[in-house]
Amino acid sequence: MGRAKKVVLAYSGGVDTSVCIPYLKHEWGIEEVITLAADLGQGDELEPIRQKALDSGASISLVQNVTPEFVTDYAFPAIKANALYENRYPLTTALARPLIAKILVEAAAAHGADAVAHGCTGKGNDQVRFDVSIAALNPQLKVLAPAREWGMSREETIAYGERYGIPSPVKKSSPYSIDRNLLGRSIEAGILEDAWQEPPEEIYLMTQAIANTPDTPTYTEITFDRGIPVALDGQLLDPVTLITQLNAIAGSNGVGRIDMVENRLVGIKSREIYEAPAMGVLIYAHRDLEMLTLTADVTQFKRGIEEAYARLIYNGQWYSPLKESLDAFINKTQERVSGTVRIKFHRGNATIVGRQSANTLYDEDLATYTSADQFDHRAAEGFIYIWGLPTRVWAQKGR
Ligand code: ARG
Repeated sequence: MGRAKKVVLAYSGGVDTSVCIPYLKHEWGIEEVITLAADLGQGDELEPIRQKALDSGASISLVQNVTPEFVTDYAFPAIKANALYENRYPLTTALARPLIAKILVEAAAAHGADAVAHGCTGKGNDQVRFDVSIAALNPQLKVLAPAREWGMSREETIAYGERYGIPSPVKKSSPYSIDRNLLGRSIEAGILEDAWQEPPEEIYLMTQAIANTPDTPTYTEITFDRGIPVALDGQLLDPVTLITQLNAIAGSNGVGRIDMVENRLVGIKSREIYEAPAMGVLIYAHRDLEMLTLTADVTQFKRGIEEAYARLIYNGQWYSPLKESLDAFINKTQERVSGTVRIKFHRGNATIVGRQSANTLYDEDLATYTSADQFDHRAAEGFIYIWGLPTRVWAQKGR
């Protein structure tokens, strides 16, 4: 009696998820394995992946392009929230997991499967994100994670696969573990495990080395509508095209690399390199537009919400009452966050050099130092007296 009868497996085409297919069938007695490959704009050829799953023993091999949904329903909320985990990581990998979980759960229902499966090991954040998201969407569904239990080394995994006709990787397999989608790349392992070692240039694909960036700056205007990016240089673009183009502009100017040591949910610190050109720039520009259009107290209060939001994405709580509640607050704040931010890209820098909005709260007549000044200077005296009163009383008592 196996752990389940019919399983939908999240499939990437790599050795580990391929080995999961015979493993589930032969070691765990699963009768039928259906694979599901998600196209998240990672740029892989999907037809060979679809075929490889069948060759590895899948009964049905599904491929689903969810890139538009990934951008509009996952990346855009994160931009509205200015979500940066530990102040730096724009959550490009983390955001994809709840979406993959969602289509796994949907496929399980459509095909009458009693379990879903993924190829995550027991050391990372992604297993948590999958398991918790799946539980939130269908608490009855079993989640199988063979790679968390099988205890095989890399060599043993490859050897196991060969027994079932899964070819070992043709090129000497990369020493890195890489996750990629439209929003970015996450790179770890190999020499990067030494936190003192500078990452070799070869790991980067989306961003140029500064030495190879153009001499002249590139200016780009990003237009937001209620917190969502809608146009580049005045041209309305669909969400996927907008991200693609901005990735190219930022990346070719050497913008978008992050090298950090982060705190994983499972307690380990890990050194990770990210490339996330468009996401980093969009959050930077969006935050600037908020400075123009939100009141001081909302801006400052929202900072704490943003941190909580980033943490919940990282920690696998995308489908949660906390997320829904924070969304309600964040969406309310975005009602007037419309306008345009001008960015200068040059030699690894993205600098904001201008911003404008029909909803601007910046009033030149109040801010100016010229004779146009409308600010009542005399009112400041009484304000300061009352504002400073507690300090004054405190100082008097202390003498
Ligand atoms: N540390 C990142 C996260 O937890 C990325 C995880 C996947 N990284 C990788 N190199 N495969 O979101």
